[in-house]
This record gives sequence, C-alpha cells and structure tokens, in this order.
Amino acid sequence: MAFKLNVNGRSTTVDVVADTPLLWVIRDVLNLKGTKYGCGIGQCGACTVHLNGSAVRSCQTPVSAAANQRITTLEGLSADGSHPVQVAWQEIDVPQCGYCQAGQMMSAAALLAKKPHATDKDIDSAMNGNLCRCGTYLRIRQAIHRAAEITTNASARSVETASVNQ
Ligand code: FES
Ligand code: FES
Repeated sequence: MAFKLNVNGRSTTVDVVADTPLLWVIRDVLNLKGTKYGCGIGQCGACTVHLNGSAVRSCQTPVSAAANQRITTLEGLSADGSHPVQVAWQEIDVPQCGYCQAGQMMSAAALLAKKPHATDKDIDSAMNGNLCRCGTYLRIRQAIHRAAEITTNASARSVETASVNQ
C-alpha cells in the first residue's frame, strides 16, 4: 500500500504494509540510519523521532499513523549539527557507547521546543522513557540545560542585531 510521508521537510511515497513500524520505513526504505533499533517494544526510546513535533517511539508507530504527518528524524534536527541540542551534546561530551543518544537527543529537542526553560523535574519526566545502559543520565541533564542556554543566548543576540539594524 502506498503512503505519503513528509520526512525532514521532504515529501516521499513509500509502498509498504500498513502496520509496518515507522522505524523500519525510516531505516530500511528511506535509508536514514540515525534512528536506532533498541528493544522494538517501546521500552528503550532508542527509536525516538518527532511526529508533528512530539517525541514518539517509531518502533511502535505504524506507518499508516504517520502518513501525511510531519516526521523529523535525527538527520532533520539540522543539516550541519548546529541544533542547540547537538552543540550541547558535543560540548558536554555526553555519549559513551552512543547507541541510545539519537533517541535521547530527539526527546530532548522535543522537550525544549515545548519548554525552553525546562527544569530538572521537566527533564526527568520527559526523558524518563529513554534508557541509557551506559548511565549518561547526569550528562544528558547537563546538556539539556546547556542547550536551553545556547537557545536563549542566540535569541538575545538576534534581538540585539534586529535593534541595531533598525
Ligand atoms: S526500539 Fe523503540 S522503544 Fe526501544
Ligand atoms: S551511551 Fe551507551 S547506551 Fe547510552
């Protein structure tokens, strides 16, 4: 069956069975390998992508539910690694083995888009379903705060530039 998808701002049509998990369409049909397979049963968060801006488990999302919706994968956060979450992850050097980190960054980006000044409590609750067997949780929390700071500083700079140019 054909499904029209919008992935990272590009429209594409895929021909797959309706209950195919979005994860496999992203990885195997569209060849976007940033999204990881961890457990396949909605328990680890490695496969997290955004559906209309909200973090979802792509292993638990049938492609039929994602048709004609806005899907963002890790590759769509930015073209050049400049998304504040990606910058903060590098600055803080968050990953250990790295396997869970695509999902962690996608959950963090969805959280900050909704709550730019996320508290520790917001972070714990939003990131709760993203497991890290290497135990990088403290660095993840630190990096989310840093990403929030980078975003705030960038907005302040663009307001300053706009007022100078008036
Ligand atoms: S692979 Fe989807 S939640 Fe683990
Ligand atoms: S960095 Fe290894 S599982 Fe998270």
